[in-house]
Amino acid sequence: MTTTIISGGLVITAADETRADVLVEDGKVAALASPGSAYARGWSADRTIDATGKYVIPGGVDAHTHFELPFGGTSSSDTFETGTRAAAWGGTTTVVDFAVQSRGRALREGLDAWHAKAEGKCAIDYAFHMILSDVNDGSLKEMDLLVGEGVTSFKLFMAYPGVFYSDDGQILRAMQRSAGNGGLIMMHAENGIAIDVLVEQALAAGRTDPRYHGEVRRALLEAEATHRAVQLARVAGSPLYVVHVSAEEAVAELVQARDKGLPVFGETCPQYLFLSTDNLAEPGFEGAKYVCSTPLRPREHQAALWRGLRSDDLQVVSTDHCPFCFSGQKELGRGDFSKIPNGLPGVENRMDLLHQAVVDGHISRRRWIEIACAAPARMFGLAPHKGTITPGADADIVVYDPHATQTISAETHHMNVDYSAYEGRRVTGQVETVLSRGEVVIDRRRFTGRAGHGRFVPRATCQYLN
Ligand code: URP
Ligand code: ZN
Ligand code: ZN
Repeated sequence: MTTTIISGGLVITAADETRADVLVEDGKVAALASPGSAYARGWSADRTIDATGKYVIPGGVDAHTHFELPFGGTSSSDTFETGTRAAAWGGTTTVVDFAVQSRGRALREGLDAWHAKAEGKCAIDYAFHMILSDVNDGSLKEMDLLVGEGVTSFKLFMAYPGVFYSDDGQILRAMQRSAGNGGLIMMHAENGIAIDVLVEQALAAGRTDPRYHGEVRRALLEAEATHRAVQLARVAGSPLYVVHVSAEEAVAELVQARDKGLPVFGETCPQYLFLSTDNLAEPGFEGAKYVCSTPLRPREHQAALWRGLRSDDLQVVSTDHCPFCFSGQKELGRGDFSKIPNGLPGVENRMDLLHQAVVDGHISRRRWIEIACAAPARMFGLAPHKGTITPGADADIVVYDPHATQTISAETHHMNVDYSAYEGRRVTGQVETVLSRGEVVIDRRRFTGRAGHGRFVPRATCQYLN
């Protein structure tokens, strides 16, 4: 049994900030004690980590990643090995990735394929959601089995007709099923049928540049789909979690639903908080680096997202990490924005960007930990093991230097992608040391982890409703 003391830091959880020493035993948090009292209490350790002047925070929980996702005629460029290593560098110690049901195939087949990709490869712990691309009697029954195996959330798409798209009847049926089995429906809320009409019209008019991706995927079509998803969930009597919310009008739909007391939740992502349509309009083909769906919005939308995060109308910030290299992958859409693979890298940057939001005064330190660690853990049934620092929790802990400054760059990041969406951005704060279940995986900015340390975590059902 290895014992570690993390001494002298400011321990920050979603609930509390307190100067304390943390005792880690056998991969778990064993106790917290006032600073300097460790030895008086008879604690002894194989290793002491001096966190004086640093924050001691729970490892991040990124509830939305896509490693090795076949999409847009290619595959996202991070494997489970490279992606989870990069996550660790960025202070994230749990990811929830999306297994995919292919059309006409069983959920089981998709889930087995994702287990095979991840097993023995991950540097940190991982779990799965399931993407439903074919809602039918068979897949509805399989949902119950997956909930029993700890895959307790299911993503449906109102976008991407012919790929992942489900119609309203299929959505309603999946929601009814999840109302019965405790699963949480996650919704990609964009009206894909209407968007495809606008795509066709834009291309016919010669509007082929990346910025038109943002123009055709209208904010109103995100809001309309969000509204429809909320009403379908009400009819089904199921809770609803809307992923990658970007438009002010969509936030308004969530606020309206939550004001009625409905169990409706929302996630946004750093790209919507820090980037905008200005990036999509960068000269030449540079805008392709910022093509994702929902799309980046004009920067005026950001205030509504920050407000939503402060008021708890948005509960979670995940990355929707889905990287494609500029060279050879984003380039598939030169001359036709609709062929640019959708997705942005970011799994390594989330904790730092959100700390910058603390520095900039958008959120408090505790809210940072709530939206990046505690809320995603509770939302997706990972509590009490993940997302907090308390006796009995997994010792997934980050020693964070709030005063270090860094410049985000593809030159120095660890994600397997040839550009950074945040290239050249200066941020204050940096991960120093990371423990995953008590094992040091980043030691004073040196990777000491290993592929295969990370374990599959079967999840309970949503704990946010309790
Ligand atoms: O552009 C995105 N978001 N790519 C990943 C797939 C999805 O819709 O989450
Ligand atoms: Zn999506
Ligand atoms: Zn996604």
